[in-house]
Amino acid sequence: MAKEIDEQPVIVKNSINEYIDKISRQINIYNFPWKINQISSIFLVGCGTAYHSCLVAKYWFEEYTNFDVTIDIASEFRYRKINFKNNCLYVFVSQSGETADTYAALDLCKKNKMKTCSIVNVVESSIARDSDFVLPIHCGPEIGVASTKAFLGQMLVLYMLCIKLSFDQKKINKKNYQEKIKNLLSLSNLCKKTLLIDSKIQKASKSFIKAKGSMFLGRGYSFPIALEGALKLKELAYVHAEGYPAGEMKHGPLALIEEGMPVVVLAPRDEYYKKTVSNMQEVIARGAKVLLVTNKSKNEVLSENIWETIEVETLSEDLFPFLTTIPLQKLAYYS
Ligand code: F6R
Repeated sequence: MAKEIDEQPVIVKNSINEYIDKISRQINIYNFPWKINQISSIFLVGCGTAYHSCLVAKYWFEEYTNFDVTIDIASEFRYRKINFKNNCLYVFVSQSGETADTYAALDLCKKNKMKTCSIVNVVESSIARDSDFVLPIHCGPEIGVASTKAFLGQMLVLYMLCIKLSFDQKKINKKNYQEKIKNLLSLSNLCKKTLLIDSKIQKASKSFIKAKGSMFLGRGYSFPIALEGALKLKELAYVHAEGYPAGEMKHGPLALIEEGMPVVVLAPRDEYYKKTVSNMQEVIARGAKVLLVTNKSKNEVLSENIWETIEVETLSEDLFPFLTTIPLQKLAYYS
């Protein structure tokens, strides 16, 4: 798993090389079988970590495209009474391409003659074979039980698809489109630098393994990253961890916060920053040990009594989900 976490700058580079023409600064999605006006909504489906990538993508698609966006966990989707729509693109995200629930959800769409697209790592898989169109994530084999590099790869392909469709819909102009592509070309290097953050995470992990439980909080696209951080910790360290939208804490879960409980707060300096910091102060006031994950900035963090702060690289808000994921993977690994 450590190897797969460390490989992430390389897989980001590989995927970008596959999808972006550096000279023309265009995202190439060859042979996309539908015209932009044939799609009015997008339904993203996956399980576990793959579902979390769908949840991050929902924020991007809602911000940058005109599509209605719905997401679901495959094991729910396959048993729901879905109102299938001809102008909806059903997207299935799966590292292995063999997850039974995701396959069953795809199969249901196929039986209803829907447009289907899969985002997979294993291109010889059942899900890839049976979907109308495949977008590979180009991560190489993921051997570790916990998905790490595939998560970054899934988010990256979903982001590139979103930006390409946004440009095709004329929701973003050429200048914005090319600016986003320029930023993507720096992502590999930003991941490499973020991977250098190490000893603080290693030290912090000692508190997580001793704790009865822990929480991961974030708002907006940092909320799915909080879910992902908690999932990794549960899966790898057998520590109870809850991912929560930071704004929901006051509706019940604050009651769980007790003296010394480790809480990860994801608060990059984005449009949610001030609100998340205010939620962070509430948990600090109840005695939580806050491990803050933010981004490098000239401005100091607007709070006192933070136990530990980790600062990831800064370039654009869109790239924060990629960068804030890395310290959480390492936290789970060290724990
Ligand atoms: C978590 C993890 C699982 C998978 C899930 C879906 O670390 O690995 O949650 O993400 O089982 O698997 P795929 O992506 O192969 O469909």
